[in-house]
Amino acid sequence: MGLYAKYLLPKLIDKACGQKPMMKLRAEFVSQAQGDVLEIGIGSGLNLEYYPATTNSITGLDPAVEITELAQQRIEDIDIPVELLNLSSEEIPADDGRFDTIVCTWTMCSIPNIYQAVREMYRVLKPGGKFIFIEHGLSPDNNIAKWQARIEPAWKVIGGGCHLSRKADELLLDGGFRMDSLDSGYLPGPKFAAFMYRGVASKPS
Ligand SMILES: C[S@@+](CC[C@H](N)C(=O)[O-])C[C@H]1O[C@@H](n2cnc3c(N)ncnc32)[C@H](O)[C@@H]1O
Repeated sequence: MGLYAKYLLPKLIDKACGQKPMMKLRAEFVSQAQGDVLEIGIGSGLNLEYYPATTNSITGLDPAVEITELAQQRIEDIDIPVELLNLSSEEIPADDGRFDTIVCTWTMCSIPNIYQAVREMYRVLKPGGKFIFIEHGLSPDNNIAKWQARIEPAWKVIGGGCHLSRKADELLLDGGFRMDSLDSGYLPGPKFAAFMYRGVASKPS
């Protein structure tokens, strides 16, 4: 791993993902979690302060040790037990139906084999369990979408494997989830990376 990915990228992600409009969305969505929660790509732990008291435990999965080190203080600051697993979501070490809620924010863009990861997330979620997501992705505006396709190869190199053109809602529906609520639109910022899909999906009972 290069010096950029090891030392600079985790801090850049923490800063970029900690901007006010994003924190506002975290507060709105993460507060809907309950029970045993699996957070996919927990990163620097920016969601942790928003988990409600109805959360029993949080399992934070993320293969990047360097970014999860930034989560340590935030883990200590909350009363909910957090287990960190530095592993990829393409192979989740948990029994079928183990979790009541899965939280995934700005992470589906970075998972190399997203289809395999969605299959795993579906497997470990309890029937009737919620999948809470906030993801940036493919713009509905043709001009912006063209730019996303052009920029994506270079963006993946500087953005830790981040894809610009994924569609979280379609990936989840293709993976067997039911879409309970979905909202989309631009946040402030460069349009090629600012079109957000956010909502709650569930695993049919
Ligand atoms: C843009 S950051 C978002 C971090 C955090 N979810 C947040 O909302 O601030 C993307 C995260 O996805 C993680 N990631 C990359 N590949 C992954 C994988 N295969 N499984 C789980 N997480 C992954 C990265 O290490 C990084 O922490």
